[in-house]
Amino acid sequence: MIETAKARILVTRKLPPAVETRLGQSFTSTFNPDDTLPTSESLAQMSAGYDALLVCSTEKLGKEVIDALPDTIRIIATFSVGTDHIDIAAAAARGIVVTNTPDVLTDATADIAMLLMLGAARGAYDGERTVREDRWDVWCATHPLGVQVTGKTVGILGMGRIGRAFAKRARGFDMKILYHGRNRLDPSLENGEEFDENLDDMLARSDFLSIHCASTPTTRGLINATSIAKLPDGAVIVNTARGDIIDDDALISALKSGKLAAAGLDVFNNEPNIDPRYRELENVFLLPHLGSATIETRDAMGFRAIDNLEAFFSGGIPRDIVSA
Ligand code: 8YV
Repeated sequence: MIETAKARILVTRKLPPAVETRLGQSFTSTFNPDDTLPTSESLAQMSAGYDALLVCSTEKLGKEVIDALPDTIRIIATFSVGTDHIDIAAAAARGIVVTNTPDVLTDATADIAMLLMLGAARGAYDGERTVREDRWDVWCATHPLGVQVTGKTVGILGMGRIGRAFAKRARGFDMKILYHGRNRLDPSLENGEEFDENLDDMLARSDFLSIHCASTPTTRGLINATSIAKLPDGAVIVNTARGDIIDDDALISALKSGKLAAAGLDVFNNEPNIDPRYRELENVFLLPHLGSATIETRDAMGFRAIDNLEAFFSGGIPRDIVSA
């Protein structure tokens, strides 16, 4: 076993100061002060001489990259709750432990989902721009008009920690809450929400759809032309989970046709090179993947990753092991 302080950690991205300070105190850490984005091709080579990687979701660790990692790498701690950027099965096959950072970003991400829902429904983008560009000439009773949120029905796709935290916030807006996921929640975790075993049934009743499921082979592309057609006309879609759960062609076409009133998106396919058509749409409220972007949350994510590394290198079991 390596003494914890001697464990060599490659930290692939620049992390918050408090996190880097603790990493420096706990391990033999190498940082990335310029925050240069490592390419997938360079990751294996960069990992030579290290025992662990502390990565972000910007590092794509597919099977090829995992297979090329040096034998010294025994654990990959990701500074994220999502693990779709890592081939967990390939890591397991090589005996590499993977950990993530659940719980600590739940509230920040649920907050951003509320911001997106309100921002999309009430036309925040257009309103903000009108004021900034000095085009606000006269108040009108008939224009611009948004979609009311209070009292409406929201369907939550994926009722894990973040979905439940979002539901708690939506209850504050007197919303009726439906949810769909692999399983019904344990009744002790339900709080008046209605489980819909069938996604289409939930969609048909949802004025708003908020996506909170993980990106998996089952959920990728789940929100497509067929599923969007099931939503009531004028519905609003919010996505704070992963971009690939939505089919961009289908969403853009529904936003253009007026089938959907609006969308609020914090995550996209192929970030940051998103489908450029989103930039042309007036009825979208767009954020650059800010779900967890608060000082408190980013510090907590870093500390959670460090806790996992410390547990591992002191011979214990990290609390956030992700299994294949
Ligand atoms: C992170 C996220 O900021 O944790 C996740 O899964 O999507 C984000 O909130 C990002 O992935 C950092 O690696």
